[in-house]
Amino acid sequence: MSRPGIALRREARWLVLHRGARTLSKRYARKGMPLERMLFEPGARDDPYPLYEEIRARGRIVASGAIANATVDHAIISGALRDSASFSVNFGESSETPRAVRWLFRPPDPNIASVVEAPALLGVDPPTHTRYRRLVSKPFTPRALQRVTDRVEERAVELLDGLSGRNHADIVREYSNLLPVAVIAEVLGVPADMRDQFLAWGHAAAPVLDVGLTHREYREVNRALKAMNEWFAAHFANLRRNPGEDILSQLVNADPEDRLNDLELRATAMLLLGAGFETTVNLLGSGVAVIAADDKVRTRLAAEPELWEQAVEELLRLESPVQMTGRLTISDTEIDGVEIPRGTPLLCLLGGANRDPAVFDNPNVFDLDRPNSRDHLALSAGIHYCLGANLARMEGQLGLRLLFERYPDLAVVPGSGRRRDLQSLRGYESLRVDLDRS
Ligand code: HEM
Repeated sequence: MSRPGIALRREARWLVLHRGARTLSKRYARKGMPLERMLFEPGARDDPYPLYEEIRARGRIVASGAIANATVDHAIISGALRDSASFSVNFGESSETPRAVRWLFRPPDPNIASVVEAPALLGVDPPTHTRYRRLVSKPFTPRALQRVTDRVEERAVELLDGLSGRNHADIVREYSNLLPVAVIAEVLGVPADMRDQFLAWGHAAAPVLDVGLTHREYREVNRALKAMNEWFAAHFANLRRNPGEDILSQLVNADPEDRLNDLELRATAMLLLGAGFETTVNLLGSGVAVIAADDKVRTRLAAEPELWEQAVEELLRLESPVQMTGRLTISDTEIDGVEIPRGTPLLCLLGGANRDPAVFDNPNVFDLDRPNSRDHLALSAGIHYCLGANLARMEGQLGLRLLFERYPDLAVVPGSGRRRDLQSLRGYESLRVDLDRS
């Protein structure tokens, strides 16, 4: 496609998918529609939970004015995520997407890979998805991750040592942002000294998951994606000449029948890198806030460190780092007695499903004794179930345990938490803590 053609599509996409959606949504938000209020009302990003309850009160699947049908129903979301025969993630290719909209959903520049659209794992259906997933799963199995555990611990201790002698710290900027990016860089074998650059690109690209971006945010997203594409293209050229033992070297130099093309390689690597830290940072940041707020919880965790596993499941449930995902029905289907016609775009509000009172008693409470915390959908379900789930859990458990062991009296400075201004990801931009309030 010609340069002017790409520029035209990029602008058309912004006009319809972002500016149009934003304008229309604001109109519906003023009429009180809860989904649009949740996405666009100031303050809703700090606390979307009352709006999830409004959606729940309106029905199991709620037709929204401007965006999609939305649901916070655990059974429906769980069923939709597990039924990849009826629910697609590939909005840009599906015949159920109206033709004009399909054009808009395809990446504007066919040479620039994104992290959510085909050919990224998150944007492809079987059989393509099955093939990609098989190629990248190996480093994320529990057995492969055993080797990474010591490195996670070393990195966490290094970062905590860097805070010694300090009374206060921004725990997000100085700890929870830095640990996951160092770990995923190591798992993927990309240079650790690129850490700050990866963080900057990851943060600039994170709104790619959201709707209604301003033109400036949209430009920043595209700029960051382009820069990551260029960096990975050069990195792959290097790995072709000097392969290492890492997963990216294996992908680049795979047997011809397994080999991904350049665009597929970049999409895969960028998703692994981005998903590897943009989500886990939020688990750690929210974890600090929730646990520091409850003296009983932290006393129990100090006395019974084996409870950190349960603590992380409760954190994933209560403050889900990924609050939503989307699917499109490609055939008429029925879940738990609810009929869903083909061609229905469905916004699955994971953060709401994880507080569904039909599944979780007292869902708004952090409970170390909850018997079914692990039934949360924070890491999705079905074929797109988070590839990094084992790594995320391990980083969450180790990262938080080591922090609270070093600073058992850590307290959040009241009013200091600033949330990230995002719809899909939930976490802190910054959070000041008093490291030793005693
Ligand atoms: C607390 C941390 C994390 C959370 C909450 C999380 C959440 C999720 C969710 C909800 C999905 C599926 C979205 C959907 O079904 O539409 C997903 C997919 C994915 N995650 Fe994670 N994630 C986390 C950490 C990680 C880490 C550390 C990695 C490391 C590589 C990772 C890699 C991926 C990949 C590659 C996919 C796509 C899987 C596929 O489409 O088959 N995630 N994650």
